[in-house]
Parts: sequence; C-alpha cells; structure tokens
Amino acid sequence: MKVISICNQKGGVGKSTVAYHLGWGLYEFKHKVLLIDMDPQGNLSATFDRQENCNAMEIFSDKPKLSSEIIVSGIENNSISLVTSNIHLSKVEFQISFKSYTKLRNALSMETNKKDKWDFVIIDCPPSLGVFTVNALTASDYVLIPSLPYYYSLLGLRDLMEIVEGVQEEGLNPRLEILGIVVNQLDRTIVARESLNVIKNKFSKLLFNTKLPRTIKVEEAIQAKKPIWLYRPDSLAGTAFKEFIDEFIKRVKRRGK
Ligand SMILES: Nc1ncnc2c1ncn2[C@@H]1O[C@H](COP(=O)(O)OP(=O)(O)OP(=O)(O)O)[C@@H](O)[C@H]1O
Ligand SMILES: [Mg+2]
Repeated sequence: MKVISICNQKGGVGKSTVAYHLGWGLYEFKHKVLLIDMDPQGNLSATFDRQENCNAMEIFSDKPKLSSEIIVSGIENNSISLVTSNIHLSKVEFQISFKSYTKLRNALSMETNKKDKWDFVIIDCPPSLGVFTVNALTASDYVLIPSLPYYYSLLGLRDLMEIVEGVQEEGLNPRLEILGIVVNQLDRTIVARESLNVIKNKFSKLLFNTKLPRTIKVEEAIQAKKPIWLYRPDSLAGTAFKEFIDEFIKRVKRRGK
C-alpha cells in the first residue's frame, strides 16, 4: 500500500481535481483506492455526492477510527472508497492539540493492519500548512504537489518544501519523500511559460513531464462529476490527465519503497 498526500498550502491549484482524477485513474488500472478528504471544504466529497457526511472527524476523536465507504466497485475487485469531510471538520481543528500530528497515521494503520485493504491511499489536503496537512504528511510515503505556473505559486513551493523537511527531520516521518510537482492549468501565456522555466531550473528532477492544461472542460467535468477523459474522451486535457496517471504510477513503482 502506498499513501500519497496531495498538498499545497495555496488554494485553487488543483489538489482536489488531481485527487479526484487519481482516484478514478487508479481504479481504472484495477486498483483498490482509498480517498481521504482532509479538507473542511469537502470538495472531494461533494464531487462524489457525499457532502452530507464527515467521517474524517472520527480520525481526530479520542479513539481515532478510519471510517470509509465504498463508492464504486469494479468486477476485478477494484474499488474507490472515500473518507468524507465537510465543514464540521473545521470544529475539530480548534479542539485538538497542535501536537496531534499522528492521529491519521494511527487510524490508517489500525485499519490496514486487518488486511491489505487498499493499494493506494490518496489524501486531499486543505490549503493550509496546519494540523490536517501535517497529519497527512505524517501518514504518507509520498507527497505530490500540484502547482500553478505563476509567481506566487513558485514562492509557496519553497515554504511547502520547508514543512516537508520539518516533518522528515523532526522525526514525525523520516520516510516521507516528494514524489513530484505537477504543473496544472498551464496555458500559452508568456508568464506561464516563464514560470514553468523557473520550476524546471529549480526543481528539474521533481517536475512531472506531463503538464495539465488549463481548459474550461476540466471545470465542466468536475461539475458533471466525471473524470475529464470520460466527460470529453477526445480532448487534449483528457489525454494529459491520463498521461499524468501513467507517469504517477511509474514514479511510484520506480521509487519502490
Ligand atoms: N486544468 C484545469 N483547467 C481549468 N480549470 C481547472 C483545472 N484544474 C482545476 N480547475 C478548476 O480550478 C478550481 C480549483 O481547483 P481545485 O478545487 O482542484 O483546487 P484545490 O487546490 O483543491 O483548491 P483548495 O485549495 O481550495 O482546496 C476548480 O474550480 C477546478 O474545477
Ligand atoms: Mg481542494
């Protein structure tokens, strides 16, 4: 089982969109996938029509528990399960101690000790570097960073790298590795191209070859609650998201932890 946090403290960079597509993409590759919505905005849960529930709260209770529900199951034992979230999760943030960084890891390991339930666990993080994100990073093998090709996003990458290093070095999770940076919403503007070059120069090894293009079709697909390759099978964006899934699987296999 591989656990991957989709993380960036900047809002609107595509964390939930990438998490949603990874869920479907890995499912189509016959995997058993658990999606954990760690964001009180509950966007990922809403995309699966599950915004009424907030199972993520149980992770932070006195007796941490991971409650998930199977959303889709395929004929080859493949499935997508979801730990739901909504605005109620934000109450928890005030109640729990800021030292509660291992709650998710404990809840996850209790659940997966039973049997190898999932091949991939994908955690959709909120746009902050607070207690939910640190819980996700502490529970993960890898962190995947979606980023926009713009100046402020580049500045944010440095802060995020520091948090990741903090989690590695302060003993919370020495095994954590950055799987890569995936550029989302790339368009043909000069600023986007220039920012992409900066990311290439600074983080060449981390950068995914696949770039996800900016197109209203992605927004439409999310609204239609379908992955882009099913919503618009012939679109460039559909092809790009599929290529991204391939590259994601190859990267995880290559690291081979
Ligand atoms: N490649 C794309 N092209 C066009 N629109 C996109 C693309 N990727 C994401 N979007 C849209 O951009 C918005 C932000 O995406 P998303 O919610 O996935 O970001 P996020 O990082 O999860 O945001 P938050 O930090 O608020 O959780 C959404 O409305 C989404 O549909
Ligand atoms: Mg989100």
